[in-house]
Amino acid sequence: MKKIVISTGGGDAPGLNAVIYAVVHSCYRRGWEVYGSRNGYGGFLDTDELVQLYPRDVEGIYSTGGTILGSTNKGNPFATPVENLAGEIQIVDVSDKIINNFKRMGFDCHIAIGGDGSLDIAHRFAEKGMPVIGVPKTIDNDLSQTNRTFGFDTAVSTATEALDKLHSTAKSHNRVMVVEVMGRDSGWIALYSGISGGADVILLPEIPFDMEAVCDKIADNELHDKDYSIVVAAEGAVTRDGQRFNKGKGELGRDEMILGGVAEWVAKEIARRTGKDTRSLVLGHLQRGGSPTTFDRLLALRFGAAAVRLVEENIFGHMVALIDSQMVAVPITEAIQVRKKVDLTSDKVMTAREVGICLGDSNK
Ligand code: F6P
Repeated sequence: MKKIVISTGGGDAPGLNAVIYAVVHSCYRRGWEVYGSRNGYGGFLDTDELVQLYPRDVEGIYSTGGTILGSTNKGNPFATPVENLAGEIQIVDVSDKIINNFKRMGFDCHIAIGGDGSLDIAHRFAEKGMPVIGVPKTIDNDLSQTNRTFGFDTAVSTATEALDKLHSTAKSHNRVMVVEVMGRDSGWIALYSGISGGADVILLPEIPFDMEAVCDKIADNELHDKDYSIVVAAEGAVTRDGQRFNKGKGELGRDEMILGGVAEWVAKEIARRTGKDTRSLVLGHLQRGGSPTTFDRLLALRFGAAAVRLVEENIFGHMVALIDSQMVAVPITEAIQVRKKVDLTSDKVMTAREVGICLGDSNK
């Protein structure tokens, strides 16, 4: 009999509940016990935050968004801000307490579902002796060593649907619509949704953009009797002269805005340079919400079941991954080293250029 604890960390992504569902069922059929840690590492610090999970507790959750384990953004146990009696904020390391509780409770393995930040924390626990298995999650799809993360397909579908809807209103008013999608460090959502949603311009963090190229495309549309344009910008897009718009780490390691969003800035620049009626919108957390697509559900269920197989084989310190349609195990250290960027020589980028989409550079 084994005793497993599962946690969800970082921003939510559609498919988290499907992973939990698969882990609970896969453990249950082996006669193992599985517990959920509420609010990130909450269950490792306070037994009230630890819940034993049975199949009846996860009935039907594979199709729901969010996570049944509560808030995923509860900070870093290696650097937790705590208010002392004088009302001052101190940074405290509670990792030893977590390790001791993990051992005292008799757990055999921690299955950590998270993006690079949460997997980095999981890796640090692995180095301290905790048997850990990682499950890759991020709507941004920018984790290395896996072809896909769950949540991405749902986010792309949501963004594409929004673009489909924006065409008719943009056309009715002869406007330029600038749509900001998520993707702090990589342009996967922008590229996939932009191509599928008929964008005229797609701005990716991987290709620093030039406003002249963007405005040339809008002018070119008009020359060809298309009086409206759709621009999709990843939140992490940067200008050719290095202007950034998205978040950076501020005090206490929390995300803070550097400037207003990229969409607002690009929309103002287009209006200033072309005189076109221009509007901007930020799709934001809409892309993280809702029910996972079939692809994400299936991927998340496969990840959960594969994670339990790794526990059975005593393969720890690894992350389950999708490589060439197969479930494989890769060392967590390799997955968190670098962000997976859009490959600029890929056929998707070539497709975008071939169907006439401007990628913010002068390369046609
Ligand atoms: O990492 C996933 C992500 O969706 C990023 O694209 C985005 O910058 C971030 O989460 C937003 O996170 P928060 O919920 O902290 O605003």
